[in-house]
Amino acid sequence: MALEGLNLDLTEEHLAVQQAARDFAQTELLPNVIERDDKEYFPEELVRKMGELGFLGMMVAPEYGGGGMDTVSYVLAMEELSKIDASASVIVSVNNSLVCYGLEKYGSEEQKQKYLVPLAKGEIVGAFALSEPEAGSDATSQHTTAEDMGDYYLLNGTKNWITNGGRASVYLVMAQTHPELGHKGINCLIVEKGMEGFQVGKKEQKLGIRGSDTHSLMFTDVKVPKENRIGADGFGFKFAMSTLNGGRIGIASQALGIASGAYELAVKYSKERKSFGKAICEHQAIQFKLSDMATNIEAARLLCFKAALDKDNHRDYVKSAAMAKLFCSQVAMDTTVEAVQVHGGYGFVKEFHVERLMRDAKITQIYEGTSEIQKMVIAREILK
Ligand code: CAA
Ligand code: FAD
Repeated sequence: MALEGLNLDLTEEHLAVQQAARDFAQTELLPNVIERDDKEYFPEELVRKMGELGFLGMMVAPEYGGGGMDTVSYVLAMEELSKIDASASVIVSVNNSLVCYGLEKYGSEEQKQKYLVPLAKGEIVGAFALSEPEAGSDATSQHTTAEDMGDYYLLNGTKNWITNGGRASVYLVMAQTHPELGHKGINCLIVEKGMEGFQVGKKEQKLGIRGSDTHSLMFTDVKVPKENRIGADGFGFKFAMSTLNGGRIGIASQALGIASGAYELAVKYSKERKSFGKAICEHQAIQFKLSDMATNIEAARLLCFKAALDKDNHRDYVKSAAMAKLFCSQVAMDTTVEAVQVHGGYGFVKEFHVERLMRDAKITQIYEGTSEIQKMVIAREILK
């Protein structure tokens, strides 16, 4: 049954997490968000506070320093944070659903104690390095190599566009060990900042999420101990794909938040701004925009909950996560463009926030698998 288990009643715990994220976004993220975007400033202090509040390891079991929450809570928090600052929320998303999830689900007990615990507590931040200059969508064609040298791997190659690239302490790096085996020869290695031969490249200057820290990473004969491999030899690509399924729920809820943030601003502004003797919300053309936004956002939120509930209830969520990301990212684009339109000329200037949300929306159609890749994933699931 497609809608099996879709109980949409939020519990008191869910509402408390949502309120905590909303309060944090309003009181801590909102001040200076325009300046951080303008100056491409990584919100170091805010990341520390988000760690203290438990936002960086929300779903990790308490025994490993996390909040032990479900994925629905995560969606609710991501939406609230992303309404205000998508640069901050992508840090939350990568740390929770790519790095912590991957380590908790597939890491050894030693790896969990050494890396997961400080990551889940927010004492350090992690990064997930799959993409390369010539392997983005086509992720199986990894050029980075991890040569098996007995008790260590020799890591060589370059990763591109890595979120938290300059700020992370721990990196999950995909690399090819057995090229003759194709994607079944790829491994995931835990690389620490400071390992000899590991260099962080220049920071990318971006259209949106300008406060987040995106870098290339260069590895030259980096010796990574064997015990830093996650899972069995050749498990790395499966690891990356499995982890990305949950990551796509995070980015879907980021897109949802960007859309709902823009929508709330548009509703507010439309009641305040007057033209032709009445508030612009009294013009039917504006009302129809608001109706479309509200309907799309509701549908987007339901898809996020569906994917989250599939994951929480241990059902397959490859398709529901891809559908949520595909749809929510389109809603984020459509809603933010229309929110700028509702604001007229004021929408085009930074002070009114919607232009930033419009710029931030675009990345949700690109990272963690482009919209075209989500359609491939959905089609394969439908047709298999
Ligand atoms: N879940 C689990 N397994 C999956 C999977 C999924 N979503 N997608 C593919 N796989 C498995 C397949 O089952 C297959 O395994 P078997 O051989 O054991 O059956 C294996 O992976 C290879 O899959 P395909 O044969 O389908 O390979 P392909 O090359 O034709 O297509 C792809 C693979 C789906 C396009 C994949 O490369 C992909 O998802 N690309 C997008 C990469 C991506 O999302 N990158 C994000 C980087 S992280 C990031 O972006 C973070 C950030 O911004 C914040
Ligand atoms: P390409 O794969 O070259 O795609 C170019 C275009 O072709 C796209 O429209 C794509 O959809 C389309 N296309 C490609 N193949 C097909 C096909 N078979 N059918 C139809 N259309 C196709 N990666 C990480 O590993 N970790 C990170 O932390 C991370 N953070 C990022 C942060 C930012 C700000 C950005 C911009 C990127 C980040 N990425 C990260 C990389 C991101 O995941 C890739 O950019 C994305 O997967 C697309 O790869 P690409 O850029 O190489 O585009």
